[in-house]
Amino acid sequence: LRGMLTLLRARLFHTPKNPFTEAGALEAFSDGALVIDGERIVAVGDAATLRGRYQSAALAGDPESYLLPGFVDTHVHYPQVRVIGAMGLTLLDWLRERTLPEEARLADLAYARALAARFVRALLRNGTTTALVFGSHFPGAQEALFEEAERVGLRLTSGLVLADRLLRPELHTDPETAYRTCETLISRWHGRSRLRYALTPRFALSCSDALLEVTGALLRAYPDVWFQTHLNESRDEIRTVAELFPWAEDYLATYERFGLVGARSVFAHNVHVREGELRRLAAAGSAVAHCPSSNMFIGSGLFSLRRHLACGVRVALGSDVGGGTGFSLLKEGLMAYQGQMLQPDGVPLGPAHLLYLATRAGALALGQEALGDLSPGRQADLVLLKPPPGSTLEEVLRHSPSPEASLGALFTLAREESVRDVWVAGVSLRAHLAGGER
Ligand code: GUN
Ligand code: ZN
Repeated sequence: LRGMLTLLRARLFHTPKNPFTEAGALEAFSDGALVIDGERIVAVGDAATLRGRYQSAALAGDPESYLLPGFVDTHVHYPQVRVIGAMGLTLLDWLRERTLPEEARLADLAYARALAARFVRALLRNGTTTALVFGSHFPGAQEALFEEAERVGLRLTSGLVLADRLLRPELHTDPETAYRTCETLISRWHGRSRLRYALTPRFALSCSDALLEVTGALLRAYPDVWFQTHLNESRDEIRTVAELFPWAEDYLATYERFGLVGARSVFAHNVHVREGELRRLAAAGSAVAHCPSSNMFIGSGLFSLRRHLACGVRVALGSDVGGGTGFSLLKEGLMAYQGQMLQPDGVPLGPAHLLYLATRAGALALGQEALGDLSPGRQADLVLLKPPPGSTLEEVLRHSPSPEASLGALFTLAREESVRDVWVAGVSLRAHLAGGER
């Protein structure tokens, strides 16, 4: 209720500072509270202090639960919910054999609508409140996703996926059609509710020069929309891109030539990246979506976080469902941790780094300054976690020696089953987490 304060009690964690550059970035309250006024957070701190200061606030929450900022997934594919777990294939075979046939089914609007509902629910059930989403190749299916996100209240940036070669004919468009269709979708959806549009060429491999050119023209015509694509994911893919664009000095150059590399651009993967590309990404202010579970599942390789940080490239987390192994950004945090542990020059990550990557880093990568931590003034986008009774997580948390250790246990063990509630802009979306076919 607008104008009425709510005091939400829980164990709180957030990273109002960047743990990669500042000490003491993790702020934790073991008996904490958040005061919410409508859409916004107005105070964060110890429960006892805030109860004294906000005596008229309605009480909510649970002191035994764990409250974090809502997760920000910076790379996930809506048509791929049902592809999760397709084993035994690397990127290009995985696309051809399992993923693109499923994406072709979204030509059927009824199929797409049902999938959009499942997809949005899956994000929320995993505590994701903001997402940058690869949409569908079909305009009707793309509309279905925007409609569902709007209905439920999710923060979503997405766009029609563009390709005009080397996928399968049903998924191909042509540059003129792409321009017109994107214009229509932008005019209908960009800036409406909590939705934004992202121009989304699938990857250079599946796009002619003319299609990338048209994407650049759209970005010039609509300079406040977002841009997303894939970059430097697998070795086979990179080799093919080099053959298809003989004029390009590297993979990034295929996008640069058409004006697609800027401060509103998010590139997924970037595993096998050259030094020059990192320098140019940093200079452009672009962000990279690190998708650790996907990089391991499809066998693309281990992400060099050290080199990205050294060059000043912004990095956030993406689940990359269905190359990724699920919607949980907690799990992606764990996978990111493990991926660094496995490399001789890996960045040693702790719970604060994982939380930052899953929340505030994502918000900043998507230009959403008002999201990603629990500081006063931020939007009240939250996830409430509580371990299922009798679970291993419950046992570990009960004996946790410190808040930081508890956060490490949450990243390691908490999944969908532990997500009890989710808020976007101060509104609980709990009703949307439950089963209930539509
Ligand atoms: N590159 C082009 N399309 C895709 C996709 O759907 N998933 C991943 N992981 N990489 C891609
Ligand atoms: Zn992807």
